[in-house]
Amino acid sequence: MRVLVTGGAGYIGSHTLLELMAQGHEVCVYDSYVNANPKVLDRVRSLSNGKLGDVTGDVRDAAGLDAVFSDFEPEAVIHFAGLKAVGESEERPLAYYDVNVGGTLTLLHAMDRAGCRKIIFSSSATVYGEPVYLPYDEAHPTAPLSVYGRTKLMAEQILADWSKQAGDRAAVLLRYFNPVGAHHSGEIGEDPSDIPNNLVPYIAQVAIGKRPALQVFGTDYDTPDGTGLRDYIHVVDLARAHVAALGYAAGNAGCQPFNIGTGQSVSVRQMVAAFERACGAPIPTRTAPRRAGDIAAMQADPSRAKAAFGWRAEHSLDEMMASTWRWQSQNPDGYGNG
Ligand SMILES: NC(=O)c1ccc[n+]([C@@H]2O[C@H](COP(=O)([O-])OP(=O)(O)OC[C@H]3O[C@@H](n4cnc5c(N)ncnc54)[C@H](O)[C@@H]3O)[C@@H](O)[C@H]2O)c1
Repeated sequence: MRVLVTGGAGYIGSHTLLELMAQGHEVCVYDSYVNANPKVLDRVRSLSNGKLGDVTGDVRDAAGLDAVFSDFEPEAVIHFAGLKAVGESEERPLAYYDVNVGGTLTLLHAMDRAGCRKIIFSSSATVYGEPVYLPYDEAHPTAPLSVYGRTKLMAEQILADWSKQAGDRAAVLLRYFNPVGAHHSGEIGEDPSDIPNNLVPYIAQVAIGKRPALQVFGTDYDTPDGTGLRDYIHVVDLARAHVAALGYAAGNAGCQPFNIGTGQSVSVRQMVAAFERACGAPIPTRTAPRRAGDIAAMQADPSRAKAAFGWRAEHSLDEMMASTWRWQSQNPDGYGNG
């Protein structure tokens, strides 16, 4: 298929490009580079023989979208473009609604004008909020705790209503858990532009000597070692979920959510121990109070994605950490060095 990938130069998008091309899809990236380095596409091209186009543009720019739909004529869209920092979303709520909700709306209008009826959307486990039960299945109530989570839920609702119109529109909502890791080559990976918001990039920067120690926020949760539990998923498994979802969207109509996680939960302390195994050195940690809005534990029930399109996570925790370390140690300054 011809697939337009908004936000394709970002962390998850760049890994997905490789999996799409490996399966013979023709791909065009549409990205504003607000949170990505254009060099990532050179790396992606050097790792693949596939056909990869790219257009610089903003998902809120209707004319820019019309131009790419007219030139590339995509049969489907994978929509990664968005702002993703939970903390920042509380400080800049309108920016988050503008890009994540407004951008999705502008994109759907452009798809309708072009007659493109299939979309895979980057949603998030944050749509669930405080767990009523665990593991979360897709029927779990949605009550996001942050502006970011609400932007994702609103975009999901718009996509659901869009898909109900006549025709064979399909919207696949992938609710990601915690993506970590990097491509096995060590050539592409997560490259935070500032102080990392997420655990694994932070640990990696401690390991490389950029930061003195990891702060462990909350050691008194009702969990086996007192630290928070999360469902971490290797970014390559996550990328492959998009390729599988594309096949599902091609043959189906309507809107469905799918959890994309491993179904396992791992504590902060276990993550640190796994990273120490990968890098062969101790990671200094400091304990800190719980952060407001953090929940003790979360975990996916990913069985629906397996039943619908045969996807399940295959990489182990040690593979997540080994690939992160390979990426971080080969690229201490991320793409800035490449
Ligand atoms: N990484 C996570 O932990 C996580 C978890 C759940 C959901 N998600 C969602 O998955 C998607 C991809 O996440 P990621 O981790 O790869 O983030 P990322 O920031 O690395 O990638 C997002 C990409 O979108 C681009 N972009 C942002 N605003 C844009 C705009 N207005 N127009 C065009 N391009 C724009 C950025 O330049 C970047 O390349 C996001 O929608 C994010 O909310 C991420």
